This record gives sequence, structure tokens and C-alpha cells, in this order.
Amino acid sequence: MKELDWANLPFGYMKTDWNVRIAYKDGKWGEIEETDSEYIPIHIGATCLHYGQECFEGIKAFKGADDQVRVFRMDENAKRMQSTCRATMMPELPTETFCEMVRRVVKLNKDYIPPYSSGASLYIRPLLIGTGAEIGVKPAKEYLCIMFVMPVGPYFKGGFAANGAQAYALVRSYDRSAPLGMGKYKVGGNYAASLYAHHIAHDRGYASEFYLDAKEKKYIDECGAANFIGIKGNTYITPKSESILPSITNKSLMQLAADLGMQVEQRPVPVEELLELDEAGACGTAAVIAPIQRIDDIELGKSYVISKDGQPGPVLTKLYTKLRGIQYGVEPDLHQWTEIIDVD
Ligand SMILES: Cc1ncc(COP(=O)(O)O)c(C=O)c1O
Repeated sequence: MKELDWANLPFGYMKTDWNVRIAYKDGKWGEIEETDSEYIPIHIGATCLHYGQECFEGIKAFKGADDQVRVFRMDENAKRMQSTCRATMMPELPTETFCEMVRRVVKLNKDYIPPYSSGASLYIRPLLIGTGAEIGVKPAKEYLCIMFVMPVGPYFKGGFAANGAQAYALVRSYDRSAPLGMGKYKVGGNYAASLYAHHIAHDRGYASEFYLDAKEKKYIDECGAANFIGIKGNTYITPKSESILPSITNKSLMQLAADLGMQVEQRPVPVEELLELDEAGACGTAAVIAPIQRIDDIELGKSYVISKDGQPGPVLTKLYTKLRGIQYGVEPDLHQWTEIIDVD
């Protein structure tokens, strides 16, 4: 194992020893290759550079209390990447090839998997890009899928409750995606479209920006790069929208909420309903759940306070603890969401 300050890792790029790649040429995927280079030789006319023909994913691997390495729901990431590929006219990488690449890249970089006690994890970044040259707007004939990894720190240093709940800035002048656009796919363009609104929110001291639906500005869409979840009594509420990314964390939390006997509602959520929520959070691979203290509608000068004491509520805390427990192998994995990777 490498000598790293495991407990103080940021969420940032770090060079590790190996990445794995697979190229698509002449109408088919080739063989998985291993390389220690952080660079890709790329044609100046590659479609990913000009027309954004690319997509990515984010997955985590965890070293458990039992020292086993578990990857969480990578087959779901494979399926989501395939759905993005269909939307952007890129060839789909078969699930088995995708999962084999994850296994290989984790094993090759096993010395970078943070120890259980650190609360950190190994972040896996699959990237699929159009590498073939085109100048007319059309899909490339050649593609490259790369997977690389890096250790990333625990999102909540000192534990879930220690950071308290955070404030979000509702931005009405910016949309990250259009109702019939690319919001439900993981293409880089959605993230480029969010950078400016994110910068404004951050500059004003908010954790992140908060989007309403682009058409009517009535319903909740997403919290930055995370799905929104709300708790009202015994009900788990999350937006149904054509322009939000189907979060694998959210899907898992909905199942866990149902397992706990909660009612689960996935439906359009009017922004005023924020006033009726007992708890709210932003969910995704990075944090599992980031509790929301309040949401400020900065243009209308209105505040929706959700957590009066600034702390995460009991239901989200329970769901967070349960999901983290499954990822680290301390809770039974009843739905077979994790795969143990043999790294030795
Ligand atoms: C825009 C957006 N929404 C939601 C999520 C959460 O998705 P997941 O739970 O699959 O990480 C992410 C992160 O991947 C994201 O980028």
C-alpha cells in the first residue's frame, strides 16, 4: 500500500500507476489494454473535441471492515453509459467488458485503495470519447474508452453529522439542461453548462446551485451534480423529470427507504413543497447524501429553511448509514449491489 495521508485526501485528480483502455475501430471493440501513461494521442479533428461526442461515469470501490474490496453497482453505471451512448450515437460498450475493465483497473491500482479506517474510497472514472476525425457534424467512426482511478477523501470529514447541513442557491437565470435535451445523460456538455451557475453559487458561499425545471420554473430538477431527495413524514420524495440524471445512489436509497417501510414517491416536486419537508438532501456517488439546511431563491429573495438546527435529520441519517454500511461490508447486502474484487 502507498504511503498517503489517507484521512486527508481531497476529491481531486491524483496520478495512480495504471489505466485501462479499449478502442473501437472498424465497427467493433478491440481488446482491453493496460498503460501507465496519463495521456492520449488524439487527432485534432476528433469529434469529442469539437462536437462534445463523449460521456463519462463515476463509480466507487471501498475497502471494507473485513479488508475485502467492494465495487458498488457498476453494472448500473455500464447501463447508464450505454444509454448515453445511444443518445449521442456512440457504440455501446457491453456490460461485461465495462465490468471487466473496472475489475482490472482496481486490481492494477490496489495499492491506492484507501484503508477502511480512513473513510476514503477509490474513485473510478470511465470515459468514452469519439476519437475519429470528422469536420461535418456527424458521429465518429472510431472511439476510445478509458478507465482510470484515484483515491478520494471522505466527503464528510469527522462523520455525517459533523459538517452539518448546507445551504444551496436556487438559480433562476441558468439551466443545466433542456426538457427534451441531454440532462438525463452523462455527457460533459451538461457539466460545462453548469460551471457558471456553480461559480456564482460558490462565490456567494453556497454549497452548490439548485435548478428548477427549465420550461416552467415550477418544479425541482437537480442540486448541482446531484439528485434531490426530500422526506415528509414517512414518505421519501424525489423529482421525476426528463432532464435529470438517473442517479444510482437515488435508486438505491429509494429501495432502502421502501425496505424500511417508507412510502416512495417519484413525481414532479413543486418548489413550494420545500416548505413542507422535514428533511432534504442532495444524493450521489460523491457523498451518498449531502444534507440540505436551506435553499435560497437568490433572485426572488426567498428562503426555504428545511433544517432549523442546521443538522441532518434522523431519516436521512439512517438511510446514509445503511447505504455506507453496505458499501463497506458492515451491513448485509440484501440486494446484491456490491461485487467483491479479488485484488491479490
Ligand atoms: C448531474 C448529476 N446528477 C446526479 C448524480 C448522482 O448520480 P449517481 O448517484 O449515479 O452518482 C450525478 C453524479 O454522477 C450527476 O453528475
